[in-house]
Amino acid sequence: MSKIKIAFSLVPVGLMALMIGCSGEAEVSFNKDVKPILDENCLKCHVEDGAGFVKTGLNMTSYESLMKGTKFGPIIEPGSSVSSTLARLISGNADPSLKMPHGAGSKPLSEGEIATIKAWIDQGAKNN
Ligand code: HEC
Repeated sequence: MSKIKIAFSLVPVGLMALMIGCSGEAEVSFNKDVKPILDENCLKCHVEDGAGFVKTGLNMTSYESLMKGTKFGPIIEPGSSVSSTLARLISGNADPSLKMPHGAGSKPLSEGEIATIKAWIDQGAKNN
């Protein structure tokens, strides 16, 4: 009897371990992890009256405006960094003239920053 009780009490723990194991990595937070990277590297141009905004309509001041994308449409496809323009541009998998951040003197994002943004998109690009 007591053995059965123990076995049952272990089930939820096992399920949780499985769920954590499947997600593979800790959840990335938009506000804590992603936003600071965008603020530092992108906002000077992708803000009202900035060069990137004037040319494309892409405003990165808020989650909502970021998800809205450019005047041509979204740049983020929640759940798939591979299909997201944003991820392609920051990792340089696009025409070099479009690599972001843009312009002379802009330093590219670090591997870690790129990985953070990709993981956030792959986890569903949530406003978390
Ligand atoms: C120095 C200014 C500048 C900075 C900094 C900058 N951008 Fe841009 N961005 C532009 C300009 C200008 C364009 C319009 C592209 C063009 O035609 O040159 C653009 C276009 C874009 C586009 C749209 C591309 C398309 O498919 O139409 C995305 C997405 C983008 N930027 C993302 C970013 C991200 C992410 C960062 C930060 C990592 C960033 N940008 C930093 C100036 C900037």
